[in-house]
Parts: sequence; C-alpha cells; structure tokens
Amino acid sequence: MLRLQAPLPERFIDDDPVNAERIAAAKATLGDRVFILGHHYQRDEVIAWADATGDSFRLSQQAQSHPEADHIVFCGVHFMAESADILTGDHQQVILPDLNAGCSMADMADLDEVEEAWEAIARVTDIDRVVPITYMNSSAALKAFVGRQGGAVCTSSNARAVLDWSFGSVGDGGRDGRQVLFFPDQHLGRNTGVAMGHSLDDMAVWNPRKADGGLDEVTIKESTFLLWKGHCSVHQRFTPDLVAAFRSEFPDGEVIVHPECSHETVSLADRVGSTDFIIRAIEEAPAGSTFGIGTEIHLVSRLAHQHPDKRIVSLDPMVCPCSTMFRIDAAHLAWVLEGLVEGRVENRITVDPETASWARVALDRMLEIV
Ligand code: 13P
Ligand code: SF4
Repeated sequence: MLRLQAPLPERFIDDDPVNAERIAAAKATLGDRVFILGHHYQRDEVIAWADATGDSFRLSQQAQSHPEADHIVFCGVHFMAESADILTGDHQQVILPDLNAGCSMADMADLDEVEEAWEAIARVTDIDRVVPITYMNSSAALKAFVGRQGGAVCTSSNARAVLDWSFGSVGDGGRDGRQVLFFPDQHLGRNTGVAMGHSLDDMAVWNPRKADGGLDEVTIKESTFLLWKGHCSVHQRFTPDLVAAFRSEFPDGEVIVHPECSHETVSLADRVGSTDFIIRAIEEAPAGSTFGIGTEIHLVSRLAHQHPDKRIVSLDPMVCPCSTMFRIDAAHLAWVLEGLVEGRVENRITVDPETASWARVALDRMLEIV
C-alpha cells in the first residue's frame, strides 16, 4: 500500500538533540490536549515521550480511555492508528508521525483478495459456519469485512480467547463456528490452533495468489483452520537453528518468542506470547536469569538495559529491527507536536464512517470477549 510522507521542514534534523527540547516544550504547552501512545517496538528516543506504552491490544484500550485528549499521537504503525481512530470519539483526531510507517504483514491481505476467498469458500461449504478472524495487523477495510460477516479482530495477546469464542456454542455466547478463515498472519493462527489442541492436519494455507487459494474442494470443506498465507518478515527470521544455537551457548537459559514466529520455532520455545507477555515474564523472573528472546530488537535491547541483573539477548545475532516502526523518530514526533501548537494537524489518520462503523463492530466484539 502506497503512503507518502513528505520530507520534514529543514529545521527538523535526525539525531539532533534539539528535537527533545522541542518535544518537551510542545508537550508542556499542549498538556492534556494531546496523548502520546508508544508501541514497544519504537525507538527509545520516542518511547521516552509516550504517555502510555503497550502491545497493540493495550494501546487500543488506552486510545479509547482518554476522551479528554483532542489529539492522539500514535507512535506505532498505520493499522494501529486506524484502530485508534475507530475506537476514539468524533471530537478526537489521531496522528501518525510518519505516514510511511506501515506493516508489511498487514499489506499481505487486501479487501478484494479476502472477498474473493470468501466467495470461493462459500461455493463449497456452509459459509454461515465459517468465522472470519482478522489479526489487529490489518487494514480497517478488513476489520469492517469481519464485522459485517459476524467475525472478530484478535491481537497476539487474545487470539486464543477469540478463537475459543469462534468455536464456542451460541448458548455460551460463542459463534458456533465449524471453520475459521484467519488472516493475514498464518503463524499466529497456526500457533494458537495448536495450543488449543488442534492438529496441523486440520489446517490449510490459503494462498491468495492461486485460484481457490491453491486448495481442492475437500480441503476447503474439511479444514478447521484456513490460514492466510501472510507473515511478519521480522519474526520469520527467528529460525529453529537460532533457538538451538542459544541453547548450546546458554543451557540454563529460557527461550521466549512472539507468536508471529513459525510453528517450528514456537514448538522449541519455553514460552510464547505478545510483547506485553514477554515484558511481564522478564519482570517476574529472578535476578541471574538468562533469556533468549524472539521479537523485535528495540524491545529486546530496552529490556536488557532495564534489567542489568538478568542476561537478555536476541535469538538473532544479526539485529532485526522492524523497518516501518523505525521510521518514527524524535524529529517526526517534534514536527507533529509543534504543528499542533501552531494549530496545524499533520498526518491525521481517518477511516471513513461506513468502514469505521463495521470495523468497530469487530473491534468491540474482541473487547467484549477478553
Ligand atoms: P503485539 O500485539 O505483541 O504488540 O504485536 C504487534 C506486532 O506488530 C508484532 O509484530
Ligand atoms: Fe508488521 Fe512485523 Fe513490523 Fe509487527 S514487526 S509491525 S507485524 S512488520
């Protein structure tokens, strides 16, 4: 998806210490009128200014619970800012400091492809018993599709609860699904399904580049999980070989990975969970513990810095930042905040009302389930 960030005015220079002074001054002037959210993968120079940090689920709750702020500055990626716009009041405006901060995984599924898949599945199976579930890492258009079709959004911290709801009986408030179409991350869907006790044989990968997802009729009909062929380029780097290398160097160490990693890697890890889960696990561990972490490097480095009494290393010795999260820096944050002080709203993210109302249905279902 093409998004265009114009160059900043010349006075905003990368790595200029003046950016911090600009942010501090603008924040002091704006007070409660602005609320800054920071995802855990953001740079330290950005996280330092966040009023709330969190994983994508916690940040969506935070966005919703600050009606006093006229402006929510979302230091994260585009789909997170869209969700914040959907969940916040009409009087609030959401700002993404760099428009090019997208998510390559979210871009792996678009509305046309998902609608085509839905029609193809409806030709061979009872579509009323298929529940569409979209990972938070998706466009607002896909969240709206899911809202219209009786499905829900999930994040990495609540995928299990949302899938339990999908297959749960109507009497228990569930959706009574027989099958789930899960997009865009095949790994989160597969890892969660296996943790629920489903077999890999019950899952098929839907390839949007092939007719009927590249699947035959029986497979479409019989698979409990139809998993979209999407992935995160950051998390797919954490291979089983890296887990083995960490274990041979640190035999007493513990491996914790994000559920966007492949099933082969997750099955070798000691624990798996969202970014908030990883943070809590490390906070609760005794001094002297050693961890090999499979998630984005800014979070891993921050945890290592915050816990000098524990050894915390990335499973991947070749540093792997999320290049789109990385686009937001102190210069862009200073630029949008100074704009607000001067009465200009730069980089506002809006979702059209029709899309927003259906996407909100899917997001509200998630918030009710968990
Ligand atoms: P969390 O839900 O754990 O914050 O993950 C979001 C994300 O984009 C991970 O790549
Ligand atoms: Fe998207 Fe992966 Fe970056 Fe998360 S880490 S924002 S899934 S590209």
